[in-house]
Amino acid sequence: FDVVDLIRTKRDRGTLSTPQIDWLVDAYTRGYVADEQMSAMAMAIFLNGMEREEIRDLTLAMIASGERMEFSSLSKPTTDKHSTGGVGDKITLPLAPLVASFGVAVPQLSGRGLGHTGGTLDKLESIPGWRARLSNDEMLAQLDAVGAVICAAGSGLAPADGKLYALRDITGTVECIPLIASSIMSKKIAEGTASLVLDVKFGSGAFLKDPAQSRELAETMVRLGTDAGVSTVALLTNMNVPLGFAIGNANEVRESVEVLAGGGPADVVELTVALAREMLALAGQLDADVEGHLRDGKAMDAWRAMISAQGGDPDAELPVAREQHVVTADRDGVLVEQQALPFGIAAWRLGAGRARKEDPVQHAAGIDLHAKPGDRVRAGEPLFTLSADEPARFDRALEALEGAYRIGDEGDEVLDGGPLIAD
Ligand code: URA
Repeated sequence: FDVVDLIRTKRDRGTLSTPQIDWLVDAYTRGYVADEQMSAMAMAIFLNGMEREEIRDLTLAMIASGERMEFSSLSKPTTDKHSTGGVGDKITLPLAPLVASFGVAVPQLSGRGLGHTGGTLDKLESIPGWRARLSNDEMLAQLDAVGAVICAAGSGLAPADGKLYALRDITGTVECIPLIASSIMSKKIAEGTASLVLDVKFGSGAFLKDPAQSRELAETMVRLGTDAGVSTVALLTNMNVPLGFAIGNANEVRESVEVLAGGGPADVVELTVALAREMLALAGQLDADVEGHLRDGKAMDAWRAMISAQGGDPDAELPVAREQHVVTADRDGVLVEQQALPFGIAAWRLGAGRARKEDPVQHAAGIDLHAKPGDRVRAGEPLFTLSADEPARFDRALEALEGAYRIGDEGDEVLDGGPLIAD
């Protein structure tokens, strides 16, 4: 094939055949198709979309570009969760050990944060000693002994996606349903899980803000998973407001441990429990007492075993930032707005996230909220606390937060985008 012909086909709203897509992905992975050409193709797909069959072919070709993991030697069923990313989304941390406490294996391959959404590995790395890199053998042994593993995806899984995603990131072609769906599902199918629950976000803090688009993304991903033999379901969840009270890294670990101890914020508990139910149902446990395992310490035991198995000390002190800045309410009233995206950007500017892949994150940096939309507040009471190692970061974070929250009067509409979990 001639890559320029394929680009012209997509530019002119044509359809690519299975052999054409296989060739394109293989040639791009090997370096025969240049980044400039793949960028043009990504933009043509962004603008003109893809047919169902093309999305399936792209996903399968990206899986075929690397290795596939295999868990059939385990004596337990496997299940996994993927979130499309949000602000304060630490759900994987309590969820993986909670599900594992029912004797199910959770092989959770996770990523690092880029931009305003945090990364699960960055959060866990605030625990002294904890390591994200495991060999395939170590991962299997831990799945067998503990049940839950949260570790870095090796570069061997869907390498074509790694290359394409980096390109999309710098060419304005991320927010595209065929490309997002094939990117996420190629990695999850290659990971070898038997079942998968997708947490697809909508709202201001999500990749795709419009709920109708999020629904289409969810349907596309469920179809890809099901066609590849992975039992897949999706929940559509609200990302207009940060999840929980903690946005950052170490503070999100603290909040997750509260959930595992039977407490924690209502929204984090609700989503953790809902996703656990879905995962356990796919693994054959339809009436698991999910809340019971949060109350009686079984989920906490699995957390401690999971952290220790990866070199972490579950009892270690987590890092605390050198500097704090408290923002208080300027009047009595009701907090009617707290937008996820600006709070995510502010936490990122405080040092909790990274601008470039190679940058380190500051584990103690972030934001602790003291009120959530709908809460009554009094003048002078703290609304949220910014934490950073360098006080110079506060100004840029506060700039991001201008207009991001509002105190209204009793009876005003609360702009939280509706229920946490959509129908
Ligand atoms: N996450 C991914 O892995 N891929 C995308 O395209 C978007 C989010």
